[in-house]
Amino acid sequence: MRILSGIQPSGDLHIGNYFGAIKQMIEAQNDNEMLIFIANYHAMTSNQKGEILEQNILKAAAAFLSLGIDPNKSIFWLQSDVKEVLELYWILSQFTPMGLLERAHSYKDKIAKGINASHGLFSYPVLMAADILLFDAQIIPVGKDQIQHIEIARDIALKINNEWGEIFTLPKAKIDDEISVIIGTDGSKMSKSYQNTIDIFGDEKVLKKQISSIITDSTDLKDPKDWRKCNVFNIAKLFLDKKGQEDLKIKYEQGGEGYGHFKMYLYDLILNYFKEARQRYHDFLSHPEEIKECLQIGAKKAKNIALQKMQRIYEKIGI
Ligand code: ADP
Ligand code: TRP
Repeated sequence: MRILSGIQPSGDLHIGNYFGAIKQMIEAQNDNEMLIFIANYHAMTSNQKGEILEQNILKAAAAFLSLGIDPNKSIFWLQSDVKEVLELYWILSQFTPMGLLERAHSYKDKIAKGINASHGLFSYPVLMAADILLFDAQIIPVGKDQIQHIEIARDIALKINNEWGEIFTLPKAKIDDEISVIIGTDGSKMSKSYQNTIDIFGDEKVLKKQISSIITDSTDLKDPKDWRKCNVFNIAKLFLDKKGQEDLKIKYEQGGEGYGHFKMYLYDLILNYFKEARQRYHDFLSHPEEIKECLQIGAKKAKNIALQKMQRIYEKIGI
């Protein structure tokens, strides 16, 4: 299977991103053709400051590489290193009805939130379609908010295939129903928009602060506690095997330990789980040339695929 995923380089990654998306990508590398890129053109729709974008790209690449995206197994590149995607975006635009984009929830939501309507924001789904169709991706693992964008890509592909013959692979969104929503420090879905995250690469002080802010009830230290309803337990179990979970349940049920203890326990669990990744992350960030080298290897492979595809498209469009 050819699986493709784009990630916007915006903000620090949290454990919801890891358990909800990144872990699956890392596992999928072994038996699939994984294509993963950093969507810096898309990120421009919300930020046009070069220094910030550049920094965010390095941070996103360092994060993915240190968590286990292997440039020898996956094709991992920076979107703007394969510029054919912009050319295809323009070609696809000719086949994209205005109504299709006007119905896009993501655009409407952003406008409703007061974000300025720009052509870039409006045509975002066409660029996303180009990302997908340029590489004949079959499966696109995405969160629920992105399903409509994949449907738009599929609609555009269908329209062109009807006219030109079978030129584009029809992509399918993959939404993992088994992956539960990871809760944040306030018990609702962890998301950077809700400021309830626990970040993977934050320094130890920040991590401690985030964990301390997890909302718990006021059961007394000496009393037994209900692990089922506890946000600390529900986050901690992500990092524990069956036995670890059972041991922790017993501690809750026995009483004699307070939420402060459980939070410290969680802190150690997280630091331990991401110990090597955190080390690698900092090593990468102090050697940005290594990050760029990894991205270049990926860009070369991605470009190869893109050029072959564009050749067929040029014939059809008369270029
Ligand atoms: P955020 O909500 O913090 O802005 P993104 O929308 O950038 O996160 O999400 C990137 C990826 O991480 C998506 O595939 C999304 O499904 C996954 N993800 C984000 N938050 C969670 C969560 N709380 N639980 C499970 N998966 C999540
Ligand atoms: N829009 C996606 C997001 O915000 C990122 C993205 C850009 C993407 N191009 C893509 C995802 C192509 C999958 C396929 O998460």
